[in-house]
Amino acid sequence: MTEEAIVHGQRGDDDGDSGIGDIDSSSESDNTSVRSETKDYVEENGRLYHADWIDGKYLLPNDEREQRRLDSQHDVLFEGNSLHKAPLQGLLNVLDVGTGTGRWAMAFAEAYPDAMVTAVDISFNVMPKWTPENCNFLVDDAEHIQGIGNKEYDYLHVRLLHGFRNPTRFFRHAWEALLPGGYIEITEFELPLQFHDPEKARDSILMTWSANVIEGASKLGIDLTIAEKISTLLKDGGFEDIEESISAWPIGAWPKKKERKELGVRLQEYWMETLAAFAWRPLREMDWHNEETQCLLAKMRTEICGQNIRASMHVRTFWARKP
Ligand SMILES: C[S@@+](CC[C@H](N)C(=O)[O-])C[C@H]1O[C@@H](n2cnc3c(N)ncnc32)[C@H](O)[C@@H]1O
Repeated sequence: MTEEAIVHGQRGDDDGDSGIGDIDSSSESDNTSVRSETKDYVEENGRLYHADWIDGKYLLPNDEREQRRLDSQHDVLFEGNSLHKAPLQGLLNVLDVGTGTGRWAMAFAEAYPDAMVTAVDISFNVMPKWTPENCNFLVDDAEHIQGIGNKEYDYLHVRLLHGFRNPTRFFRHAWEALLPGGYIEITEFELPLQFHDPEKARDSILMTWSANVIEGASKLGIDLTIAEKISTLLKDGGFEDIEESISAWPIGAWPKKKERKELGVRLQEYWMETLAAFAWRPLREMDWHNEETQCLLAKMRTEICGQNIRASMHVRTFWARKP
């Protein structure tokens, strides 16, 4: 491991200003630490969010509590979903888009020591302090990924970005960022959540959460229902050999089989944090008062811990090749 290399937005883009401030670009060489004490957060409802450098606000916080959620999310996804699904070979340059705490990027860099992994996020606060030699971190906007790091990539990885503001533009820029023959791989979970018995769940708190969070996010310019559109977006974007895998994971202790029950209990913890992380900004857009949001979150905990509403998360992964 080496000390981190984090630099801020240095690239050209064809859509004008990404909105990223020129905070610190004093990197002198590869793997030089350029971490500064830059304040890139604002405080709302006892949570910290990245400061709004870009138009459209990112929904989730970037505080330590969120970083713990991202790390636990990585552990669950890593065990259940593997490091990658695209058929990769001879990798040189890899880009992880919306890297968060960078757990995937670092695991990938260790698994592929001959590849150079660039990990990008709008939020500086969540980035790790130590990275493998072949992994460096950049602060930049995912919607302008062409030209990030001033190179083209063999493989783009995007996992649970939850920040698609202009998906068509995103896939066009992803195309430009890839070398011919390169792969893009995207994982998102489906919203609304799925229910074993949708009729029974129709008036559930989880359903209320899903509907209002999706609509509130959309008011902020973010599409949380992107999972069902990715295949079409890839096809329309000119990608080939599009493949998809779907995993359905239980939320809560409701499954009968021991293994599924254990997974459900793990996801119950994860989802209680996730429901809270997603709730505040979108529900504010829906004109909910803080007390109403608190009340919804408290009721949701009871619902998830009960065995009545059998909810699942569907994780969808797509991979495709640039011809
Ligand atoms: C839910 S986290 C997922 C982190 C990581 N991919 C993982 O799977 O653990 C989403 C991350 O994407 C980042 N993000 C969202 N929109 C972005 C954008 N437009 N450009 C760059 N990063 C973005 C957020 O700051 C956040 O750290």
